[in-house]
Amino acid sequence: RGYNINDLCKHTSFMQTAYLLFNEQLPTPSQLQAFCQTEQENRNLPDTLYALFKDIPSHTHPMDVLKIGVSFLATQDTNNPLGHNHNTQTKAIALFAKIPTLVANSYRIMHDLPIHKPDPALSYAENFLSMILGKKTQDPEKTKLLDTSLILYAEHGFNASTFAARVTASTLSDYYSAITSAIGTLKGPLHGGANEKVMDLLAEMDAPEKAATIIRNKLAKKEKIMGFGHRLYRTGDSRVATIKALGYALAQKEDKTHLYNLGAIAEEIMINEKGIYPNLDFPAAMAYHLLDIPIPLYTPIFVASRLTGWSAHIIEQYQNNRLIRPGCLYTGPKPKIGRAHV
Ligand code: COA
Repeated sequence: RGYNINDLCKHTSFMQTAYLLFNEQLPTPSQLQAFCQTEQENRNLPDTLYALFKDIPSHTHPMDVLKIGVSFLATQDTNNPLGHNHNTQTKAIALFAKIPTLVANSYRIMHDLPIHKPDPALSYAENFLSMILGKKTQDPEKTKLLDTSLILYAEHGFNASTFAARVTASTLSDYYSAITSAIGTLKGPLHGGANEKVMDLLAEMDAPEKAATIIRNKLAKKEKIMGFGHRLYRTGDSRVATIKALGYALAQKEDKTHLYNLGAIAEEIMINEKGIYPNLDFPAAMAYHLLDIPIPLYTPIFVASRLTGWSAHIIEQYQNNRLIRPGCLYTGPKPKIGRAHV
């Protein structure tokens, strides 16, 4: 949409960035107020969906639960024809408002924690964090950290999940189907799932004297170090510095810099010895840990944010659609001559 992502972090809230993605321009104050009001009014889930979560086994991956939740919400939408229709933006904003409630409360129900219903008096980030933690949370530094991570995650060109969403939309399937395709794609550890896997790595490194050896051993075994590398960014991910600085400042204030110190060891080895830089998932995972967010919710939080980018792409695809159908380079057997004998 023409803005530098770090300028958006500095000068806007996630709600402003979300509006920008849905509407192609930043909101005026009154447009922002109306957008926030619509978001607040649409946060609730049907009771039938809460009941459904009770029947889902607690070992189910939260990204699979999200796919179920989105598919269930599709069944509640009585105006969901196939393909391009003028309501896509309205559907997208209603779903956008519900995702935090879905993420937080499906997890709470499946882990025998009391439901924490959305509070319309709280901002998007305050409400999201409060529902996850099960208590009203309005600490401005914590909500700023979450809000900034959501801005950074919101949109990223033709990444794998966005591409999946556009492929599905390009068949003129419905909006919800495009979103569930994207959620399934984001789940993978080479894409959004990396932010959860970063925590496995940091847990394994959990003694500074062992940390360097653990990274070097993994590299020697040709294992991937999660949260590092990027298909497009070969000299560093421009989103990393902003969230890392904010998280580190909060960690210092709370005297919880341990993970950041371990992370610095991994970064030093990866950059100096392999020339591979951290991607956004690395500092985002450390930030979510600092906010006491359960690890299985890291990738679902990414969904809450990226849904804005996916939706912008789906709308764009519907507006000027052509089926996305790549060809492939055939490397199979040579064409057979004569009639096939079965
Ligand atoms: N840890 C260790 N080695 C890595 C690495 C990582 N995170 N990322 C890339 N490499 C290595 C590759 O193994 C390859 O080594 P080789 O030449 O000896 O075979 C080399 O760097 C080049 O990698 P390349 O194949 O060009 O990377 P890619 O573009 O296919 O992969 C990712 C990009 C993101 C899939 C990859 O970096 C990765 O798996 N990262 C970890 C998962 C992650 O953080 N994903 C989130 C992305 S935002």
